[in-house]
Amino acid sequence: MGRQIAVVGLGYVGLPVAVAFGETQPIVGFDINEHRISTLQEHVDYTGEISSEELKNTQIDFTNDESKLKACNFIIVAVPTPIDDARRPDLTPLIKASETVGRNLQKGTVVVYESTVYPGATEEVCVPVLEKHSGLTAGRDFFVGYSPERINPGDKEHTFKKITKVVSGQNEDTLAIIADVYGSVVEAGVFRASSIKVAEAAKVIENTQRDLNIALMNELALIFDRLEIRTHEVLEAAATKWNFLKFSPGLVGGHCIGVDPYYLTHKAESVGYHPQVILAGRRINDGMGQFIATSLVKQMILNGTPVQGSRVTVLGLTFKENVPDLRNSKVIDIINELREFGIDVQVTDPLAEVQHAEHEYGVELVPMEQLKKSNAVILAVPHHPYLEQGWQGIKKFLYNETGIFVDVKSVLSPADIPSNITYWSL
Ligand SMILES: NC(=O)c1ccc[n+]([C@@H]2O[C@H](COP(=O)([O-])OP(=O)(O)OC[C@H]3O[C@@H](n4cnc5c(N)ncnc54)[C@H](O)[C@@H]3O)[C@@H](O)[C@H]2O)c1
Repeated sequence: MGRQIAVVGLGYVGLPVAVAFGETQPIVGFDINEHRISTLQEHVDYTGEISSEELKNTQIDFTNDESKLKACNFIIVAVPTPIDDARRPDLTPLIKASETVGRNLQKGTVVVYESTVYPGATEEVCVPVLEKHSGLTAGRDFFVGYSPERINPGDKEHTFKKITKVVSGQNEDTLAIIADVYGSVVEAGVFRASSIKVAEAAKVIENTQRDLNIALMNELALIFDRLEIRTHEVLEAAATKWNFLKFSPGLVGGHCIGVDPYYLTHKAESVGYHPQVILAGRRINDGMGQFIATSLVKQMILNGTPVQGSRVTVLGLTFKENVPDLRNSKVIDIINELREFGIDVQVTDPLAEVQHAEHEYGVELVPMEQLKKSNAVILAVPHHPYLEQGWQGIKKFLYNETGIFVDVKSVLSPADIPSNITYWSL
């Protein structure tokens, strides 16, 4: 095939892509983060997705030197696509990465974007930047495509090679090249989308659909809480029907499910359509942290536990279980709300990086063995270490084994919790 590959942006998405190609041929792995590059050069992936052994078995030239892109004619871009404080798409990393690629672009190169965007972003935003900084013309001198990423951090089953890869290109020849290159490493095969916009839209709706399905479960949890029914039990019963979809209520954090729908709603607004269902789901999901916190306060009052000055232990701060990723964690909403009631909140998380928690959220993570006894425990993120001993592992954080246990994701069975403990779950 003779394509010299580079991957720009070596995070949760870019690194597994680089490794898949780097196992079979020498490639360039470029990132602007010097710490990321120096640790990868030492075969350490601090996102926990790739083992040291796997890194040693690749031929990736990890570099901060953008001029190395000049020798590449198939460049994959996997940089972040966050939202700003007003929940609008922040395309700065995508534009900056396109400037870098543009400055080093050679004739005949194919540039494929993997970042999640709204339909139209590749051709309307990225292509003009590539053209401006290269002085070349897309579709004539170089070619673009889009291939969304579907990996799920922490999931060792659905890995890069095992997920069907949707590919698209600005013309038939480009699509054929892109399908060929990805097809050479993705065992699950490729799906050729009819256009770049279709591929962009497909990705953004995958996450929007998931967000909305969870929002429905969260709304049900809000209703059933008032009706004093345990949502988990209702869902268990309903799931016995063949076409009932299995989703659970919970916090929707991270930088994908809770973020990507805003890319779609932004684009919809720009063409004169005000999305209703999608944004309603977002509002419900964004409000769950506050609901969990106020539900705990209600239980404290009913229990006769003083609210102000009491202590609550929060187990888990990352955006989901068994990953170290702290970005856009909604656990912070629970913590902040409890602090507003004058509650002393102590937080622990064996997977999260202490400095990152401090820097991002102003939360001082306490090692598990240094936690003080507390009036209530919230199992916010059920990492494996918390579940190993079941209730035995949780009860040690409570005073004299009385108090309140908030099991956000209903991972423990209330039958296993002694009756002198108040159990609450979504
Ligand atoms: N993490 C996921 O689960 C997941 C899944 C599917 C799709 N996506 C999408 O993939 C994209 C990347 O996400 P991620 O989770 O890998 O992000 P990440 O933050 O883990 O990694 C991004 C990397 O890009 C680097 N970077 C930033 N700006 C750069 C630039 N101008 N030039 C070169 N490198 C630059 C950063 O230093 C970082 O190492 C996003 O659009 C995201 O929505 C993520």
